[in-house]
Amino acid sequence: MDMQPIPARSGNHNMENYKETYENFKWDDVKGNFTWNQTGKVNIAYEAVDRHAENPDKKNQPALIYSAPDREETLTFEDLKLKSNQFANVLKKHHIEKGDRVFLFMPRSPEFYAAFLGILKVGAIAGPLFEAFMEQAVRDRLEDSEATMLITTPDLLDRVPTDELPDLKQIVLVGGDAPGNYISYDEEMEQASDEFNIEWVDLEDGMLLHYTSGSTGKPKGVYHVHNAMIQHYQTGKWVLDLKEDDVYWCTADPGWVTGTSYGIFAPWLNGVTNVVRGGRFSPDDWYGTIAEKNISVWYSAPTAFRKLLSAGEEEAKKHDLSSLRHILSVGEPLNPEVVTWGLSAFDLRIHDTWWMTETGGMLICNYPAMDMRPGSMGKPFPGIEAAIVDNEGNELPPNQMGNLAIKEGWPSMMRAVWQNPGKYESYFLNGWYVSGDSAYKDEDGYFWFQGRLDDVINTSGERVGPFEVESKLIEHEAVAEAGVIGKPDPERGEIIKAFVTLRDGYEQSDELLEDIRQFVKKGLSAHAAPREIEIKDTIPKTRSGKIMRRLLKSWELGLPTGDTSTLEE
Ligand code: PRX
Repeated sequence: MDMQPIPARSGNHNMENYKETYENFKWDDVKGNFTWNQTGKVNIAYEAVDRHAENPDKKNQPALIYSAPDREETLTFEDLKLKSNQFANVLKKHHIEKGDRVFLFMPRSPEFYAAFLGILKVGAIAGPLFEAFMEQAVRDRLEDSEATMLITTPDLLDRVPTDELPDLKQIVLVGGDAPGNYISYDEEMEQASDEFNIEWVDLEDGMLLHYTSGSTGKPKGVYHVHNAMIQHYQTGKWVLDLKEDDVYWCTADPGWVTGTSYGIFAPWLNGVTNVVRGGRFSPDDWYGTIAEKNISVWYSAPTAFRKLLSAGEEEAKKHDLSSLRHILSVGEPLNPEVVTWGLSAFDLRIHDTWWMTETGGMLICNYPAMDMRPGSMGKPFPGIEAAIVDNEGNELPPNQMGNLAIKEGWPSMMRAVWQNPGKYESYFLNGWYVSGDSAYKDEDGYFWFQGRLDDVINTSGERVGPFEVESKLIEHEAVAEAGVIGKPDPERGEIIKAFVTLRDGYEQSDELLEDIRQFVKKGLSAHAAPREIEIKDTIPKTRSGKIMRRLLKSWELGLPTGDTSTLEE
């Protein structure tokens, strides 16, 4: 679909003079917005919450509006400061120190946000896990990070294999009783003081681990530091276009990087009221949330927009969505069709943004002040140098497809892959961070996403490593070998398709396929379970035994198979 550019609309955005600003911008300019610039005392939780709580004009402003089908609760900046102080005291009481890994495995709730901030206040490293993870996914992440404490709920406890996790010394249970050796969140919070001396850290000290998938091996711990606040703040200001009287809603769960960088840090660093909606997605629920909470800035994902689109425009028109003034998207290609739909459903542009877990913050985006070319991810954020490079790290001219790469050293860049320096190094080439995405840049500097260069699957905006799924599949008693690919799907972007060979004595049947699917779903997570499973006689492998996923994909899509010279007999 070829669409005309959509011009910027005159409006109240933060970047009126964006051309001049763009050219003159330096990351150093942002520092003046933080108290550490004067005091030398650094902690991202202080800048996000306490700073506003100490400001008489802001302390009573709602920071968190938590809303779920069965619960509504509002915390002001002052409330959030005191609750996170209390939790920081709980952590101290249980000997959590700077640098310790404290993981959170629970649904979004006010307790989650207080605990998350408390972890940062003691200088520890927070590891939020998506609540839908099952045992294997939880185990891999806790094992690799050597987390010593986990905060979870009684419901989720049976997915935490404590006897296999020698480093995991303490478990805090939120809600319900805390038997035996468990620590009760409610009881300890009641007793804890709401005064706390924040642990001041270095800008380069760690604060967050997000596990993410590559094409090989288990998920890797992407390590972020307090310095990321510079980028969270500034992209919040210029791309999310946040102003102090906004009501902002980021739909992502904090188990994923969007839910921390832009579901916690960007709004609060900018002193903006942040809405968190619990429960399940439905068009009525989401539109209802916008209308009821008067959402003005909304950050979501193509997969959600596509679902809203298929629900029909009448669904949107049932609700008063007039509070909305700015909409953004991340996670997958934003189809021009969805942009067109957005224009008619909301009378607003949907602004695509591109970034990754590893980048910690937005890098290529459509700003409110810029003409948008539907289908393009936009242009590099000021201070970001992006290019298309070849496999040697040389820049390619406009309109040539290649590796989307970013000049090393932006503020929110990951600082390590946990316990895996080799993996970290492998991202960099010739001074460039190489993303693993292919793209091209047009003559005017707009970037256009083309696809992944590795086998990583993006299903409904969630990044799934084929290796993780294959490993789980072959644990099933009937499965001998497995190869997993992403298969294009109009609503989900890609779905997970698995090819498996059966062990002797097993026959193909619908029951067996469903059993295998459920096995992955119950062992790993629902989003990693293959939607399609196909039985094969053999799985193509290289002579060195690597599964040739590319070949499986070509077969699936009826494409030419290319070079198969490394194929095993
Ligand atoms: O392939 C790109 C895709 O999502 C990948 C990053 O996934 P994750 O680390 O889970 O982070 C998602 C949210 C920050 C990228 O390598 N991706 C992300 N944004 C876009 C995108 N693909 C196309 N267009 C985007 N705007």
